Formats: sequence, structure tokens, C-alpha cells
Amino acid sequence: MTTLFRSADERRREIQTHAASIGIDEDYISTLVDSFYARVRADETLGPIFEAEIGDGWAHHLARMKDFWASVAMNAGRYSGQPVPAHQKLAQVHIGHFAIWLRLFRETLSETAPSTEAVVYFLERAERIARSLQMAMFGETLTGGAPNLQG
Ligand code: HEM
Repeated sequence: MTTLFRSADERRREIQTHAASIGIDEDYISTLVDSFYARVRADETLGPIFEAEIGDGWAHHLARMKDFWASVAMNAGRYSGQPVPAHQKLAQVHIGHFAIWLRLFRETLSETAPSTEAVVYFLERAERIARSLQMAMFGETLTGGAPNLQG
């Protein structure tokens, strides 16, 4: 058991060291999430969907999304939600909205990311998760992206 726990810790340290080497840390994740959702809220198509669902709960949503991205990008282990049911209940979302979501995410990264490697690192993960959400919600995916690089 001890060995298992130690190797999980080592793995987390390796991931965080690699992320840090391309400029990804908690501060950048906070900037990324704040900038991305500012863009989402200003978008004529996605903005109203998020406002209707989140209402005055933005502080909570942003904090949860920072935990989510810290877990995805840095293996922080702080997020324990369930993205699939959270999206399946959103009746107003259709499959074409994912391309808009990804465009806004790409634009945010190109304006804020600390390095080109960091852009690629986040985009690969966002595209993969976007595809699995589309599969769960609609049984197909309309957005492309890198093949599953995590095996
Ligand atoms: C058209 C695309 C999308 C729309 C309209 C959308 C909308 C939303 C909304 C309204 C919520 C809040 C749900 C609630 O509070 O109950 C939410 C939660 C969330 N979204 Fe999305 N989303 C989209 C795509 C994505 C993608 C591509 C990702 C990840 C890369 C993502 C990750 C999450 C996560 C982690 C949560 C929190 C779920 C939870 O823990 O309850 N979303 N989304």
C-alpha cells in the first residue's frame, strides 16, 4: 500500500513539474478560467445558456471550474463532480454549441497562455473531454482534435 501511495505522489509531482516547465500553475489556471468565462458570458449564443443555468452562482461555478482544470492539467485531485449528468440535464444545449465552446477556449488560450506548449496541453484535454461529453449527450461528436493521447 505504502508503495502505491508513494508512486501516485511521485506521478503527481512529475505531472506538476512538467506542467510548471511549460508555465502552467494554479495562478495561470485561475486566469484561464476567469478569462474564458468572461468570454462565454459575452457570447451571444452560449452566454444566455450559462446565465439561465448559473444565475447568481458564478463565484461557485468559477471556483469549481478552477478545481476541475487543476485536476485535469496538474492532477491536483480537488475536483469530484460529475460532468456527464451535469451536461445531460441541459436541454437547451445542442451539439453545434461545442464548436463555439472550443473556439472561445482556443481564443482565450491564445491570448493568455504562458507558452505554445501550454496552448497545446490545454487544447488536447479540452477537445478530448468535449468529444466524450458529445458522445454521452448525443451519441456522436462533431468536433475534431488530437486523437486520444492519453491512451
Ligand atoms: C456547449 C458546450 C458546453 C456548455 C453549454 C456547458 C455548460 C455548462 C453549464 C451550464 C454548467 C453548469 C451546470 C450546473 O451548475 O449544474 C456546466 C458545468 C460544467 N462544465 Fe460545461 N458546458 C459545455 C462544455 C464543457 C466542456 C467542453 C467541458 C470540459 C472541457 C465542460 C466542463 C464542465 C464542468 C467540469 C462542469 C461542472 C460539472 C459539475 O461538477 O457539476 N463543459 N457546463
